[in-house]
Amino acid sequence: MQAVESSPMNRPVKSIVVLTGAGISAESGIATFRASDGLWENHRIEDVATPEGFARNPQLVHHFYNQRRQQLLQDHIRPNAAHMALARLEHEFPGEVLLVTQNVDNLHERAGSRKMLHMHGELLKMRCQESNLVFDLREDIGFDSVCRCCQTIGNLRPHIVWFGEMPFHMPQITRALESCDLFMSIGTSGNVYPASGFYQIARSRHAHTVELNLEQTASSFEEHICGPASEIVPEFVERVLCSVQSP
Ligand code: APR
Repeated sequence: MQAVESSPMNRPVKSIVVLTGAGISAESGIATFRASDGLWENHRIEDVATPEGFARNPQLVHHFYNQRRQQLLQDHIRPNAAHMALARLEHEFPGEVLLVTQNVDNLHERAGSRKMLHMHGELLKMRCQESNLVFDLREDIGFDSVCRCCQTIGNLRPHIVWFGEMPFHMPQITRALESCDLFMSIGTSGNVYPASGFYQIARSRHAHTVELNLEQTASSFEEHICGPASEIVPEFVERVLCSVQSP
């Protein structure tokens, strides 16, 4: 682990917001989005993660998310030490902790996190485009699947926020950012708005802002801790919990 820049948390912490991205799940075996070739699991992001891509070729998009879902359900895909540490933070920290994830996997829940929001949706859910009702899902869906609520073919879509769509839970997330004392950003490249601007909201309200990532991104956090999430997140959580216990 290499601490690129360090500054002590010299103010009392009562409320924490944690933002996670694909990097926290990388060591669990789930590929991140922005590999150097600009492809995501051999597909162009425009083809599989936009409403236009879905309108053009729904079968391709269903197939893509069916594959991601089946991957997530494989036995060897499990929460890692970073997911576990955040669940520990939620349970042991005496103040407020809100976990906001951009990830569509369920590894935080499986690690034990309960107070969390999936701002970009969930792989294990589908949505009826007619009624907006959301259903749990473990099996594959296709363009010809019959919707459970309207009994119609062609109305189901993955419950995923695509580029050009509004992320979920924004009012609640913004309120938490405006009142937190500590903002932690973990395993995200900071390329996607609005999550990329969260640290600025927190900072404008005088929260301490920390990035924990494999590499330092372009965003100006007060503190950058570089290394694999499974190592640096448990260490940082320990530091936060010790700081509230010490007089
Ligand atoms: N530990 C910590 N960080 C890691 C690790 C690791 N083991 N492995 C990779 N990273 C870092 C990378 O260095 C990178 O900065 O995680 C970040 C992952 O960035 P992205 O692939 O861009 O993922 P993310 O920021 O979550 O993407 C945001 O973009 O495509 C959309 O909706 C999708 O939610 C996604 C959003």
